[in-house]
Amino acid sequence: MRQALDGVKVLDMTHVQSGPSSTQMLAWLGADVIKVETPGRGDVTRGQLRDIPDVDSLYFTMLNCNKRSVTLNMKADEGKKIFAELASRADVLVENFGPGVMDRFGFTWERLQEINPRLIYGSIKGFGPGRYANFKAYESIAQAMGGAMSTTGFEDGVPLTTGAQIGDSGTGIHLVAAIIAALYQRVTTGRGQRVEVAMQEAVLNLCRVKLRDQQRLTHGPLAEYPNDSFGDEVPRSGNASGGGQPGWTVKCSPGGPNDYVYVIVQPPIWADLAALIGRPELADDPEWSTPAARLTKLDRMFALIEEWSVQHTKWEVLDQLNDRNVPCGPILSTRDLIEDETLVELGMIVTVDHPERGPFKTVGSPLKMSDSPVRVERSPLLGEHNAEVYGELGYSEERLADLHAAGVT
Ligand SMILES: CC(C)(COP(=O)(O)OP(=O)(O)OC[C@H]1O[C@@H](n2cnc3c(N)ncnc32)[C@H](O)[C@@H]1OP(=O)(O)O)[C@@H](O)C(=O)NCCC(=O)NCCS
Repeated sequence: MRQALDGVKVLDMTHVQSGPSSTQMLAWLGADVIKVETPGRGDVTRGQLRDIPDVDSLYFTMLNCNKRSVTLNMKADEGKKIFAELASRADVLVENFGPGVMDRFGFTWERLQEINPRLIYGSIKGFGPGRYANFKAYESIAQAMGGAMSTTGFEDGVPLTTGAQIGDSGTGIHLVAAIIAALYQRVTTGRGQRVEVAMQEAVLNLCRVKLRDQQRLTHGPLAEYPNDSFGDEVPRSGNASGGGQPGWTVKCSPGGPNDYVYVIVQPPIWADLAALIGRPELADDPEWSTPAARLTKLDRMFALIEEWSVQHTKWEVLDQLNDRNVPCGPILSTRDLIEDETLVELGMIVTVDHPERGPFKTVGSPLKMSDSPVRVERSPLLGEHNAEVYGELGYSEERLADLHAAGVT
């Protein structure tokens, strides 16, 4: 079956996580993604955090599926010439180099427009123009400067990062949205455009509700937060849901590091929940029966729920709460997730075979489209498609051998 982005050619100059996560998604949507890498070394993550010597790391193989790989020395004159040829045939160019790298290669936005006016040029940088523009950025820096760290953790502890890579992969997803919109706009304008997403801004977008609370603070304390006192900044609030319905983590049996369930107490389920935890009298007790009455003692409410939940495993708690329509989620460990049969059936935990490392598991595509099915295929070896891709440009095997010997590919 055809896919949504069939026929779209993407030149992928990305490295590490943010950019590769974005182009991997474009590949899953059907684009022909050609990863352009430094000869000899390639994307630095090929060699980072290796679990098997001399084999592309899981860091690389889990972020670069369904792509082709070519090597090209962007600092060599011949390399720049070949790049211009590739760019003239591409629909999209994506990069997440440090500030100024593409310009130093000689490929400014103005130059790229001369080469190919239909090209969509997508970039990820740490920050937008202005005070921070020239700074490099990694995941945690984006979380620090986008609002995630100041609002994650407990009030009396240090700011924490979240395990979800909202700075890197979160930015990648934002870039995908913008690139697809630009492809759509090009249908009517005939022109490409510059598409930029700053990691700080993507994280800030995901921290939107915390900025909501910052403004609510000017009208008094945030009653749904567990904190006793409030200053002029949104405090870290542990596991409080911070939304319209109170939520918290409660312990379960046998008490391991992930034996917890996150429970949300919606008003309509209170009577059923009270009965389930063995406190049916609380259903009609005016001290407990209304959301407003419970709001002043959420810690005690969750302690009562925990007195019940510690007697059961998180899976039993999941079933029993769902039987009563109580929204909840067991805390699934990485092992729980990679072994989850439902996620395997859904195509979210996928096994792919790799010529050097053998079979490995990766996370599939969460985008489910009835007319654009995703088949996850292994990441390419470094330069695996040199002959194929440069052959499409008309380079002969002999010429390619010369270019390789000269360090251009
Ligand atoms: C991630 C980051 C901090 C890494 O910094 P870095 O390792 O110094 O890498 P840079 O992107 O700055 O530079 C890469 C170097 O490799 C060179 N290079 C990359 N591909 C090349 C190629 N095909 N041929 C020749 N040289 C190449 C570049 O020219 C550059 O060298 P230069 O500084 O001499 O110009 C930086 O790329 C960055 O801030 N990116 C934007 C934000 C981002 O995406 N961060 C998240 C990463 S998950």
